Parts: sequence; C-alpha cells; structure tokens
Amino acid sequence: MSSHVCDVLVIGGGIIGLTAAWRALEAGASVVVLDPSPGDGATHAAGGMLAPVMEAGFGEQGQARLGTASLALWPEFAESLERAAGLPPGAVGLETAGTLALAYDRDDLVELRRLLALHHEWDLGSAEISPEDARRRVPGVGPRVAGAAWVPGDHRADPRAAQAALASVVAARGTLVPRAAVSLNWADGAVVGALDDSGTAYAAGAVVLAAGHASGSLFAGAPTRPVPGTTLRLDANVDRAPAVVVRGMVQGRPVYVVPRPVRPDGRRELVVGATSDEREDDHLTRAGDVFALLRDVRALLPELDDAVLLETVTRSRPGSPDNAPLVGWAADGLFLATGHHRNGILLTPLTAAAVDQALGAAPEGPEAAAASEVATRFADPRRFAAADSGFADARSTTRGGTA
Ligand code: GLY
Repeated sequence: MSSHVCDVLVIGGGIIGLTAAWRALEAGASVVVLDPSPGDGATHAAGGMLAPVMEAGFGEQGQARLGTASLALWPEFAESLERAAGLPPGAVGLETAGTLALAYDRDDLVELRRLLALHHEWDLGSAEISPEDARRRVPGVGPRVAGAAWVPGDHRADPRAAQAALASVVAARGTLVPRAAVSLNWADGAVVGALDDSGTAYAAGAVVLAAGHASGSLFAGAPTRPVPGTTLRLDANVDRAPAVVVRGMVQGRPVYVVPRPVRPDGRRELVVGATSDEREDDHLTRAGDVFALLRDVRALLPELDDAVLLETVTRSRPGSPDNAPLVGWAADGLFLATGHHRNGILLTPLTAAAVDQALGAAPEGPEAAAASEVATRFADPRRFAAADSGFADARSTTRGGTA
C-alpha cells in the first residue's frame, strides 16, 4: 500500500471541493484533491443561478441569509479566480442583471404573490410588475402569462467556466488524483486522512469532505442524500433568447432559463432547468422530464421553439435533512463542505470564506467576515449531532462513524 502526505486532503473535485483546495493553496498548504471525475457531479448540471431571493421559501430565512451573504462575495470571488487562472475579466460569467419571475396562470400568480409578500417581510427587494412590463424587459414573454415580478437581487454565473478555472489553478499548484475516497482514516477520535479505491493511503493535517451527495457514505455525520435534477442546454438566436434569468411557475411546476453570454455568431446558450426528484443518483435522463421542461419553458417563452437542443444532463444535488448546507468543522481534522442542495454555485464564495477562516486566514474584508459568521450560525454541520436536533441517525454516528 503506497501512501501520500499532505497538509490538506480534499475529497471531491466539484466547484465546492476545488474552491476549498484553491483557498488551502492560497494559505500555503500542500493540497491533494481526490475525485475520479472532477466537475462531473452537480456542478456539471448546474444552471448557475445566484438566487438568494427566489430560492428562499417559507421557513428558509437562514438559507436566505446564507445566500445573500455569499452573493455579496461573488464579484470579488470571480475577479480573484479569473486573476489566479490568468483569464480575462468576465470569464466565469458573473452577470448582475437581475431576474424576471413569471406566473403562467392565475393560480401561479397567487403563489407568486405569496412569495413576494414573504420577500417583502424579509426586505429582499422583489416587486410585482405587469406582464406588459415583463415583455418590455424580455420581449419573448408569451401572451398567456398572467403575472410577473422583477427580482433585482438574483443574478447568474457560469458553473462550468468557474469549474474549469478552478481546475487549472488547482492542477498548477496542487495534486489532482483521479481516484475515489473509500473511507476516512481515524486516530484517537480525529480524522487523519483517507484511503482511495486503489489502496493508496493519504495522511493529512485536515480533510475537507466535499463529495456532494456521496459525502454521507464516508461520514455519517454528513447526512446527505441525492436530489437528482435534469437541465437542458439550448442554443438560441440572441433576438429570441432572454438576456436575463427568467424563472416561473407553469401550473404549479417551476422552470427557469439561465442565459450565457452572447457569442460572436450572434447566438447564446441557455440552460433550462430543472426537475427535482428524491431517488437514486443514476445520471439517467427521463424522457418525460425533458418533455415537461420544454413544454413549460415554451409556455413562458414561446420563441424558444426555434432553439437547438444541445444537451440533456442529469446529476444530483447534495441535499441535507433540512436542505441547508453543512460547512464547518464536524470532528477534529474533518471540515465539511457539502449539502449545498440547490445553491452550490451561489454558496461557493461563502464556503471559500469559511475555509479561509478554518485555515486561520484573516477574512478578506468585512463582507467575508460577515459571511463566515453567517455560515457558523446557519451551516454548522454539528447541528445534526445536537442532543435535541431530532436527527437521531446522524447523532449516533457523528464521531468516528467511519473507521
Ligand atoms: N439552483 C437551481 C436548481 O438546483 O435547480
């Protein structure tokens, strides 16, 4: 059995794991990342909505606080990542142009208004507008749409571009090993490394567990589950494609469209999403899901009939028992960065700030300090181990759960 020694071992090479690896490299650590297929999990399917407002539902004020705190860090995160990767400004696709929310029928409008009332209570800045105003903002909005809202606080970035930038930075300065972790190594109640599927052992000062929905199979104190979602990639003429994120409800079903930048040929890619299921992670796209997404998106934006269908992709979000993330120390030597559910891209900079703090780096400015405080309050993984948490399965196995 060969072995490897490093300061920080990151398990999982999606946007969250690579961000943790990058921050650890910036802190001067030697870093190894284990992932048989980096970026081929939830990051690969993600649309890239940065949507603390529209993703916050009833009872989810903590998630809204996490999302808002993380969104404030996105511009600095994007700039420093682009600089580190030697890419031009804008390469990771951050666009702060707001979001149009649509309601297809009267019942959808009732739901939208309930949500807007909640946003008003939480001071999130969304406001109802008329369907005519919606069409002035996005000319392709269909004639049957019953109502709309403008959401100035929800934006977008390009997850695949961010993943590629992170991969180049981490590959240049750290070690990416195309292997899966099969167990954590424990000594005296602390995590001291891991074993991969080739039998190689890694000894590390700290392990960051960022294996998405699979995190729970390595550590029972990370009670994650797969929440599969399908997204589609369309290619549309710029005259027929929205320039801002459009999301809506169509007879009770959610659908969204996230535009990528216009290309020199006058076309742009659009990500249409997403289904959300509670089943196993099999990467298989159901015909009915593709049908439903296309049916619903054309109800809101009929001009997309002309678009070319480029790709269908199904991957699993990492859900947690309360659907809030797990970011923080879970045991001596073990830092969790998982459970980001529907908001992995949004919460990436907040996770970076929490990793910085965990590694003893001073927060880069007041917004990063505020974000890591919010993470401590609303994303502490030890909440599932607390005596009164009600998450009994996690509680019984939080420490030393994987030998
Ligand atoms: N963030 C949207 C989704 O998970 O589908």
